[in-house]
Amino acid sequence: MGIPREGMPAADIAAALTVIRREDPPVHGGHVLAYVYDAGVEASATAGLEALGAFAEVNALDPTTFPSVARIENDLVGWGLDLMQAPADAAGVLTSGGTESCVLAVLAARERWRRRGGAGTPTLVMADTVHPAFHKAAHLLGLDVRTIAVDRTSLRLTADAVRSALDASRDEVALVVASAPSYAHGVVDEVPGIAAAAAAHGVPCHVDACIGGFTLAYARLGGESVSAMDFAIEGVTSIALDLHKYGFSPKGASLLLFRDAELRSGTYYAFSAWPGYPVVNTTLQSTKSAGPMAAAWAVGHALGHEGFIDAVGRAREATRRMARAVDEIPGLRVVGEPDSTLLALAGDGDQPVDPFQLADAMRRRGWTLQPQPSLGDLPRTLHLTVQPVSLESVEEFTRDLAEAAEEVQPLPWIDVSADLETAFANLPDLTSGGPLPAEMAGVHALIDALPPEIRDPALTAIFSALFTARRDEGSPPGR
Ligand SMILES: Cc1ncc(COP(=O)(O)O)c(C=O)c1O
Repeated sequence: MGIPREGMPAADIAAALTVIRREDPPVHGGHVLAYVYDAGVEASATAGLEALGAFAEVNALDPTTFPSVARIENDLVGWGLDLMQAPADAAGVLTSGGTESCVLAVLAARERWRRRGGAGTPTLVMADTVHPAFHKAAHLLGLDVRTIAVDRTSLRLTADAVRSALDASRDEVALVVASAPSYAHGVVDEVPGIAAAAAAHGVPCHVDACIGGFTLAYARLGGESVSAMDFAIEGVTSIALDLHKYGFSPKGASLLLFRDAELRSGTYYAFSAWPGYPVVNTTLQSTKSAGPMAAAWAVGHALGHEGFIDAVGRAREATRRMARAVDEIPGLRVVGEPDSTLLALAGDGDQPVDPFQLADAMRRRGWTLQPQPSLGDLPRTLHLTVQPVSLESVEEFTRDLAEAAEEVQPLPWIDVSADLETAFANLPDLTSGGPLPAEMAGVHALIDALPPEIRDPALTAIFSALFTARRDEGSPPGR
């Protein structure tokens, strides 16, 4: 319940937190193939955590009081601009993560649109595979959304589709978004053509490289041929890449980069018409810890460019080997052509493997893969964020995957669409605070079967139940 009446000794606190964390999956080692990014280099992980602690209490709100903040941010932004082949007058901002970068990219574009006399409601043009952070941005910032279907074979947003959408639009489009790559399928949109189409209409083009920016850049620097996606493409006006993903740093850091400082100015906010300190914010947050930025700086310095080229090379090699192994497994296929280090697996052939039951079968073998529900004609899939450390366990993974697929292939797919009520009634209690039930396929099948207008409220209801406060009973605080 909350906190105890009397303070606890440090050793007891550490022991209690260890117990609380016991049900979490491991964040290192490569058995969790979503949410975590393990370079497999102990020295860089340690350097990051030490810097995180050392700077945790520095307030990055004010770089005039804490000069270290501007120094570190300028180094990190410079690193990102170099990787993204930005021109000399490009600029950037360090944010707390991918979602904040996406929201601020949209805000910057909206402010630019307004400065140029835009009237009415600005519109975001983007793919149906774009990360939900852009829908959230539109929701928060009052933009309309025009969603374009990606090509159903390549799963990329095509230049032709964007050109047609822009040709058909009036002058209300504030921003076109492309992904490099999309999270769900791991493929890079047709960025050069999309950016050219946007430029032809005088519209900025943002590249969401939150998950692929570091991997694509370092693969290129390592001599591989990769999809073009950065500022070397004339019409690309902003790019986001997350330090806390394939920058291998602790959570809480992302880079949002702009071709010019004029576009960046839209993310800044100042207010001094109150009797307190003049507020100047470069991001949505005001008071914020300098820990994550110091950690990202430390990881960057621990690995260096050579370390990144090596780490990304290992992740790419693991991705290729895992994809080749999937090609050999009956009933399973890789969706699209993996352009970076992400894989999406779907059922295949006459007797397709149900991805949701495959996730459970893999969980029993110690692996966490991420179920992704179907969307119209886009199938259910399993997402894999492949990491450098994955190379060490490719054989173990592919053996377990083949075995799990063989076990699941004969099973009928779980489809609860005919009786949603019973499926609801049979839902496991996800709110007990314990580990997830071993069998989650039914839950995912239920989410899959729900009509879109019910899916999102149902998901928020689950989270609302998960976040139920633990209150003191009978011993109120105070003396
Ligand atoms: C392409 C892409 N954009 C945006 C995001 C959102 O990032 P975050 O979870 O750091 O807010 C993600 C997260 O995986 C992503 O893959």
